[in-house]
Amino acid sequence: MRKYFYLTPCSLVNLTPCIPLSLRGRMKERGRNNERGLRPLLDALLWGDFILDVARMVYNYSKTVPEMGIMKTNVLYYGDNLEILRNNEYFPDECIDLIYLDPPFNSKKDYNILFKENGGVESEAQIQAFTDSWHWTQSAQDTYQDVVINGPDKVSKLIGALHETLGNNDVMAYLVMMTARLIEMHRVLKPTGSLYLHCDPTASHYLKLVLDQIFGPANFRNEIVWKRTSAHSGSKRWGPVHDVILLYSKGNNFTWNSTYTKYNKDYIKDFYKFEDEIGIYQLGDLTGHGIRRGDSGKPWRGIDPNTVGRHWAVPNKILKDTLGVDITSLSVQDKLDKLDEAGFVYWPTKGKIPRLKRYYGEDFGVPIVDVITDIYPMGSHARERLGYETQKPLTLLERIIQASSNEGDIVLDPFCGCGTAVVAAQKLNRKWIGIDVTHLAINLMRNRLKDSFNIKAEVIGEPVDPAGAKELASQPDKYQFQWWALGLIGARPAGEKKKGADKGIDGVISFIDDPTSKPKRAIVQVKSGHVHVKDIRELKDVSSKEAMGIFITLEPPTKDMQVEAVAAGYYHSPIWDKDYPKVQILTVEELLHGKTADMPPLTQTNVTFAKAQKIKSKEGEQPSLEL
Ligand SMILES: C[S@@+](CC[C@H](N)C(=O)[O-])C[C@H]1O[C@@H](n2cnc3c(N)ncnc32)[C@H](O)[C@@H]1O
Repeated sequence: MRKYFYLTPCSLVNLTPCIPLSLRGRMKERGRNNERGLRPLLDALLWGDFILDVARMVYNYSKTVPEMGIMKTNVLYYGDNLEILRNNEYFPDECIDLIYLDPPFNSKKDYNILFKENGGVESEAQIQAFTDSWHWTQSAQDTYQDVVINGPDKVSKLIGALHETLGNNDVMAYLVMMTARLIEMHRVLKPTGSLYLHCDPTASHYLKLVLDQIFGPANFRNEIVWKRTSAHSGSKRWGPVHDVILLYSKGNNFTWNSTYTKYNKDYIKDFYKFEDEIGIYQLGDLTGHGIRRGDSGKPWRGIDPNTVGRHWAVPNKILKDTLGVDITSLSVQDKLDKLDEAGFVYWPTKGKIPRLKRYYGEDFGVPIVDVITDIYPMGSHARERLGYETQKPLTLLERIIQASSNEGDIVLDPFCGCGTAVVAAQKLNRKWIGIDVTHLAINLMRNRLKDSFNIKAEVIGEPVDPAGAKELASQPDKYQFQWWALGLIGARPAGEKKKGADKGIDGVISFIDDPTSKPKRAIVQVKSGHVHVKDIRELKDVSSKEAMGIFITLEPPTKDMQVEAVAAGYYHSPIWDKDYPKVQILTVEELLHGKTADMPPLTQTNVTFAKAQKIKSKEGEQPSLEL
């Protein structure tokens, strides 16, 4: 399909992030690189021969600007990320600034999803959302051949060699699947972009080999160790408590923001040992090494630094930023006077070189390091916990996004689970794209974005008509249709129960509608195949002790089913003083046309999903992060 694009004054205002580096360099020379919009750009344009730069800039911009209808941002994709990433309409070359991926590890452990039960108690209901064991299936074999035949030469050779060594096993399946996806991620990353791959030590060494071949060993930046749990007993080995995050940049000119963490209490106690009326402080140097002939080598207050092989080194930043002194016409000695007047000079015993009082709070804190021990795993009762087993802490993602992207940049998480990277990106004023292959994750993210920012996320790839729903229902994974259909009425999956009270229940909507605040439940059953009056009788049976029963069906219900449902009578809501049909039948087609269950309003009283906390997007960049 042919695409047309045009530049409007409004779109030009947003152009700055897409300006190629060489042109940015010229703008920087002119001191205009921090300005946005048309003027600095035109200014730079008049300055040299860069027609090619401009052509490339317009081309790249045309690919990434949502209003030009080509690439969407702030959007969720449902589906396999390989297929989605390979779609050039969704992801043109070099369109993403930062990728964070946290794929299911190769740890042979089935992840279970726990959902919060009404009133905050975790329910027993567990669902296998996906299994993280990778197997050598036909699909792995096909992907292997594809990578070896069509992949970049070096990658193809490496995968061939690994296959020869490891054989057709699960590790190889995992590596092959990851390689195909990492090749696409490299394609979509901008030349200034970076990729963080979150994994564990089971396969991190193999993944590093793969990444070295895709990104080039010179673009390996860090192996970050995140201490994800405090204690773990390892029988006859050291307790495994960390995850590995591999950081690669696409090239040399990658986005990097110096990021700091606040000092911890022990550091403050050890280093800020002095205190006066201004605050706690440590001692720093007011002099630097070496003799100087100019002002900085001259005596001040009878002290000559040259006599001890040093010269005055005045902290201009403190004078300007902390004390608000205009230093333009001041000599070194004048500046030292100003510092002393403000009480920032420490005078040791007579004759000794004075020192600088560095007050706590003057500096940014500790520059981030590649071992993270100050971001704690989410406890089972953490406020941000949504019930997704592999959910990562928001602070971890904030740190990553802060360090490797700027406001307005596009952050992609192709394995986004319950959307921690997406939420961190939104909070830090970045654009975002999330992809996940389960409707469960998509529904959780949809709710999380709504609760945290009041954002109604667009989801691409979900069925939009009965034909699409039929197609989803025909897939081998029986849960996908069920989770998607439950999402249409905001119900939470109930888990697979073979026996007990929740036997035969697919989903639940919880609500509170009486003065005791006791949660009530509408239980939901979903059917994609033939339906019969006995289905409604069963639903009546299981919902007899609940407030209501809702039956979602892909096929139209029979007359008998409707009669049976009506015969169930009504549920009376005490708060609303209203009767609602006790058993209701809703077709997928009706739901797709906007019909919803007839039940007490949920705006104030819906306790179905663990609610995400409200989050305010940050105003401007924050140089340091809370511990
Ligand atoms: C470890 S979880 C990510 C957790 C996430 N970082 C968070 O904080 O919530 C991995 C996610 O990848 C998804 N996934 C697995 N294979 C996928 C694929 N081929 N395409 C898209 N998503 C996939 C799973 O459904 C799961 O939600």
